[in-house]
Amino acid sequence: MVNMKQTPPSYSTHPTHPDMNPVIFDPALQSFINELPKAELHVHIEGTLEPTMLLDLAQRNSVHTEYRNTEQLQQAYRFGNLQDFLDIYYTGTGVLCCEQDFYELTRAYLQKARQQNILHTEIMFDPQTHCARGLAFSTVISGIHRACEEARGKFGISSHLILCFLRHLDEQSAFATLEAAADYRPWITAIGLDSSEQGNPPEKFRSVFAEATKQGYHKVAHAGEEGPAAYIWQALQLLQVDRIDHGNRALDDPKLITTLRDRQIPLTLCPLSNLQLKNIAHLHQHPLRSMLEQGLLVTVNSDDPAYFGGYLSRNLLAVATAQQLDREQILTLAKNSFTASFLDEPTKKRYLDHLQQYANNTSLNTP
Ligand code: ADE
Ligand code: ZN
Repeated sequence: MVNMKQTPPSYSTHPTHPDMNPVIFDPALQSFINELPKAELHVHIEGTLEPTMLLDLAQRNSVHTEYRNTEQLQQAYRFGNLQDFLDIYYTGTGVLCCEQDFYELTRAYLQKARQQNILHTEIMFDPQTHCARGLAFSTVISGIHRACEEARGKFGISSHLILCFLRHLDEQSAFATLEAAADYRPWITAIGLDSSEQGNPPEKFRSVFAEATKQGYHKVAHAGEEGPAAYIWQALQLLQVDRIDHGNRALDDPKLITTLRDRQIPLTLCPLSNLQLKNIAHLHQHPLRSMLEQGLLVTVNSDDPAYFGGYLSRNLLAVATAQQLDREQILTLAKNSFTASFLDEPTKKRYLDHLQQYANNTSLNTP
């Protein structure tokens, strides 16, 4: 029996920190969410680098790190804002040195995806970070792709790759990256835009996104995570994106809400990320529930789960608990995750039918 009428647990500290408040979730809700067939559309593969793997790779590759154990790393994972996080995240990527490292990183994520019944993933990667350290584009993408193909064969998980441009760099660098990607065109589904949002508006990347359109890529962009609603408008109007990553600030602009609803533009929300980066003080304040009630096509995702204290199921569980979502709303989030994906229509339908079967056969008592 799920009793979601109780006061939701406090969830304002990092759940992997030693000093976190213990959070007791409802076991029936936990199981319903974990077994729920779902897709993840917003996860940075570099953000799945767990402290243990980071330290192992540092040793294996003789990369100096100032952190001697996982506790020290977890202590460092306290962020005041997005830039605080990005500084640590980019440093962490320095332990990824060869194709095998990217393969193992991606394999570990996909194994976790399998444990949460994630049937489809759309994985972001940041080639500019690695190429600036002297790695070849082929090294990065080959390792990630190899793990995705293995998971497709072994577990039946489908994966798409999203190549993200770093918005703190200039557009010329993004063009060079798009050119490097040309040899791997069949492996890449979409182009994205991430990194430091404030001061780096989508309009800065207008030409390279136009070129990506000509080359037939799908397009996404982080917008309205820390930046204003105006950046979401720019992503839609100037970059012609198919989806918005985050988009929290859309609620500041009623006209934007109408546009997002009428066009059913998906928003890939990341509740624990927003909590850890202090975009919100508590999950009660997250815009998810309000967005759902206003008919927006929202999905739940983990963003950088090794840094933010939870993979996709944990994000769903935490936000469903804090916002007292009912069974139908949780099912809608799972349905949206497939609808908003870049899968072809027959595959989407197959996954959605599977989800419907789960809904028909699985009960859950919610308010
Ligand atoms: N890169 C990795 N995680 C990110 C985030 N949450 N926002 C922008 N860029 C990122
Ligand atoms: Zn992100």
